[in-house]
Amino acid sequence: MLPQASTISQNVDSLFNFIFWISLISFIGVVVTMIYFVIKYRRSRWDPFKTPYITGHSAMEISVSLGLFILVMVIFAWGWIDYKKIIHAPADTLEISVLGKQWLWEFEYANGRKLTNELIVPKGRPVKLIMSSADVLHSFYIPNFRLKQDVIPGTYTTLWFEATQVGEHPVFCAEYCGTAHSKMLATVKVLEPNDYKRWEKEEKKEKGAVISPIELGKNLFTQKGCNVCHTLTTQALVGPGLLGIFGKEVDLSDGKKMKRDENYFRESLMQPQAKLVKGFPPVMPTFQGTLTDEEVNALVAYLKSLK
Ligand code: CUA
Repeated sequence: MLPQASTISQNVDSLFNFIFWISLISFIGVVVTMIYFVIKYRRSRWDPFKTPYITGHSAMEISVSLGLFILVMVIFAWGWIDYKKIIHAPADTLEISVLGKQWLWEFEYANGRKLTNELIVPKGRPVKLIMSSADVLHSFYIPNFRLKQDVIPGTYTTLWFEATQVGEHPVFCAEYCGTAHSKMLATVKVLEPNDYKRWEKEEKKEKGAVISPIELGKNLFTQKGCNVCHTLTTQALVGPGLLGIFGKEVDLSDGKKMKRDENYFRESLMQPQAKLVKGFPPVMPTFQGTLTDEEVNALVAYLKSLK
């Protein structure tokens, strides 16, 4: 068996084992009964007559259907409960950006530190990966954590986990993405919380000049002229004010409401007219092709930081 190295591993395994054993027991039950019937009701020299034909048995049919329905609903409810745990990250997570590209994984921390094919995280702390792809579909798969999430160009997907075992855990790309797909490997290195703090400090010293995504986003905000139309307060100019809007609901011009999450910001940069805020004219230019993935991440990080 694979190590159970995250808080969700045990849950996934329990459900898997439940389904496995139910299937195995049912299979054996069906085959043994079938063999028993074949032998018991066979036509032979001592009993040359056909067994009477049975046309139906309502009580039996209803109870079998009901029993199977209940079993399937138990599996569904069990899966649903765990699925909700997997998709809803706790509030205070360590956020790390992940960029998948042919054929490597790039990780970027809040302070601007970048690692390739190695993700360093502390044990016992929830980590949230905000993932995107630079080219084609990839899938971030950590078997020891029992977690997998598609990584898609042009949008963000997220994956959260809390590691429970110090050590190295392999990461695979689980979506065929071209020639070197099978070599698109990485490692999650889990450190004790104290070792992680030490690692964070060390790299700060050695990489003093690195600019964090939030700072880069702040620079881009003026370089790209965002500040012409958007204030950093709640006051509207040509476009909405940007203070404290992350994670909040907004009224759109088509009467719908939506939450402003990472994907909303990204779409607003690339296709500004797709979801117009109520009361504002469709005048924002698109930044499709003028911003790199890294710059988009930086602007999104900066907007998130405006609290
Ligand atoms: Cu990336 Cu397969």
